[in-house]
Amino acid sequence: MIEIRKANESHVEGISSVCTNAYWATYGETHSNEYIERVIKDYYNHERILGEVTESNCDWGGYFVAVEKGKVVGAGGGGMIDNRVGELFVLYLDPTRRNEGIGTKLLDIITQQQKEECGAEEQWVSVQKGNMRGIPFYEAKGFKFQHEKVPYENPTYIKWRYSRKI
Ligand SMILES: CC(C)(COP(=O)(O)OP(=O)(O)OC[C@H]1O[C@@H](n2cnc3c(N)ncnc32)[C@H](O)[C@@H]1OP(=O)(O)O)[C@@H](O)C(=O)NCCC(=O)NCCS
Repeated sequence: MIEIRKANESHVEGISSVCTNAYWATYGETHSNEYIERVIKDYYNHERILGEVTESNCDWGGYFVAVEKGKVVGAGGGGMIDNRVGELFVLYLDPTRRNEGIGTKLLDIITQQQKEECGAEEQWVSVQKGNMRGIPFYEAKGFKFQHEKVPYENPTYIKWRYSRKI
């Protein structure tokens, strides 16, 4: 049975490992190893995640995790980016556990948090241009493509911005 819950200190290692593995699985073919390693080092290190599971407010609602037999198999989180506007900042699964509905459950709980606790009526997400492991999921959830964003520091890795009413 899979339990969806708010993450705490005991999930730090699992979140780090799921995000690291999913990041390689998602971007290994399209992004340089150097870039991937830097993102993983900056965002998915234990110290940072420990801070992110202990802090929770409307700007960052904390991590939610999908846990099976004590093992983290998925992780996600988001926050508000404007009045009534939420964003999904991160959503990753153990790459061997896709298409079982786990991503849906994590997105649902994050969406519920943003609506009920923070008054969100709209939700955004950034996806790497052409990420066919992510885009069909968001489209199935009613997200619509809005615009392209070329990151100043890494103009090669274009992001697509999607949004939906919630
Ligand atoms: C994106 C992700 C979190 C989705 O989670 P998931 O558990 O695999 O998705 P679900 O099983 O809940 O699927 C939900 C819906 O999306 C659809 N879907 C998901 N991935 C799809 C794909 N690659 N192609 C077509 N449809 C897809 C499913 O058919 C399902 O539709 P339905 O509800 O109408 O039946 C997960 O696949 C993942 O970790 N992908 C790689 C990492 C990534 O790209 N993350 C997003 C970064 S922004």
